[in-house]
Amino acid sequence: MIIGCSNSKRLAKNIARRSKQEYSELITKKFPDGETYLRFKTDVKNKDIVLINSCHPNPNDALIELLFAAQTAKESGAKKIIIVAPYIAYLRQDKRFHAGECKSNSIIAKLLSCADELITIDPHLHRIKSLNDIFKIKTKRLSANKAIADYIKKNHKNALIIGPDEESYQWAEKIAEEINSHAIILRKKRYNSRSVRIKLKQDVDFKNKDVVIVDDIISTGHTMIEPIKQLKQKGVKKITCICVHGLFVEDALERLNKLGVDVISTNIIESKVSKIDVSKLIADNL
Ligand code: R5P
Repeated sequence: MIIGCSNSKRLAKNIARRSKQEYSELITKKFPDGETYLRFKTDVKNKDIVLINSCHPNPNDALIELLFAAQTAKESGAKKIIIVAPYIAYLRQDKRFHAGECKSNSIIAKLLSCADELITIDPHLHRIKSLNDIFKIKTKRLSANKAIADYIKKNHKNALIIGPDEESYQWAEKIAEEINSHAIILRKKRYNSRSVRIKLKQDVDFKNKDVVIVDDIISTGHTMIEPIKQLKQKGVKKITCICVHGLFVEDALERLNKLGVDVISTNIIESKVSKIDVSKLIADNL
């Protein structure tokens, strides 16, 4: 049975339809003090339960909902519990950069290991290689690269792919390969959450090029904005920003739109630009 949690009801319904599984939702509400109330609408006894929730917006609430639902399903006699968190929050803090800091990725992984299995899409793994370095349960790490490449193939001719930082090669190079193009990977220096510096390569001719910048996450948008400003000075024809996880915090989308670029994301996190569908990818891997 597919259960659509608060952030991912539409995606979960599509997954249920594609995988021809029963669909149900949770009843959730907030107590006056902000605590979460949760109840299954259907009896989960002896059933395989798939809980679907992306951890944005409201990452803390989304995680609590998944943890409460998984544990409640277990206590109510579910046979197997699979958490599908297409976007897992807190993975970027994967190191104690300063003494005393919380390394949130491994703590969240430990908590989500209360299920029998976890499925996610393009998790932000930087300093750790495999999900199983932090998760204690069976994990499946899917990628939206093919879906993104198909979108680019349909909507662009001869696109030049750019990865805005060193880590983005995992998306940029794979996507470029799929569309028979090549990827240019840039270098980023991050000063804080809202300040990055990225330098465009000087030996590449960007004039009249159809450029697609791809990354796993667009959060504040600064990682995209930095190269966009420089590309515009180089006389590119068109710029499109594509990401797997469109968090678009604060006014990121508006700021990107003001620069005259197209912005597209997958529907892992719903927004007005979440046009690349991942429901088949998930349904095929349940
Ligand atoms: C981190 O390096 C990620 O891959 C993204 O590049 C980053 O999260 C984007 O953040 P922002 O949009 O705030 O620059």
